[in-house]
Amino acid sequence: MGKVGKLQKFAEVTVFENCYERAVELKGKWKSDVFQNDNPITVEMACGKGEYTIGLAERFPDRNFIGIDVKGNRLWKGAKYALEHNMTNVAFHRLMIGNIEEYFDKGEIDEFWITFPDPQHAKKRKRLTNPMFLSRYRNISKDGAIMNLKSDSTRFYEFTKEVIAEQELTLLEDCDDIYAWDDIPEHLANIQTFYEKMWLEQGKKIKFLRYVL
Ligand SMILES: C[S@@+](CC[C@H](N)C(=O)[O-])C[C@H]1O[C@@H](n2cnc3c(N)ncnc32)[C@H](O)[C@@H]1O
Repeated sequence: MGKVGKLQKFAEVTVFENCYERAVELKGKWKSDVFQNDNPITVEMACGKGEYTIGLAERFPDRNFIGIDVKGNRLWKGAKYALEHNMTNVAFHRLMIGNIEEYFDKGEIDEFWITFPDPQHAKKRKRLTNPMFLSRYRNISKDGAIMNLKSDSTRFYEFTKEVIAEQELTLLEDCDDIYAWDDIPEHLANIQTFYEKMWLEQGKKIKFLRYVL
């Protein structure tokens, strides 16, 4: 297949059957209407090209996965791969994360991933793990839902640990250099996003936090 331009990707994702755009009508209905099963749902926020959504969905067929990003041309890559590989436990949803409560119901989500978010050095209010975002995630998730964060940014990682401590959340894993971790879980080592590859080439250490929301 030849190189597909940005505009064509924007156009194609609007007709991909596994891609949804600000789908308020699906609030509370993702299991029944989209996945047609009762399996738990994991959401990847700011998924970019969807490498984590796809990689996890391939490894965990008994779970459903939704990749969320505001940029349709980025979602295109993951969505296209999922269609070509007949993956029925994957969907992509184009929306602004700040409005996520409009699109999912209380208790609908079981687990979250955030991979290599923009660090937002100057704007704490835009950091996807700040208290305001966490309360939005809680409003759409089951009690005891899990958050996973993979990041190159020391500042973002330290900021998130401060929020975890302030809110007295249960920290399940904390690693400041995952490739030096003897027992690194397979899916942490072997699923690498576009941004992770870029940061690894620049010699950055990759950090990981897993905690109860
Ligand atoms: C640095 S990229 C990381 C993408 C991907 N996770 C990766 O590791 O390659 C950050 C992504 O966050 C998305 N993003 C940033 N803020 C967002 C928001 N408020 N709502 C939805 N997507 C957002 C951007 O469109 C972009 O794709």
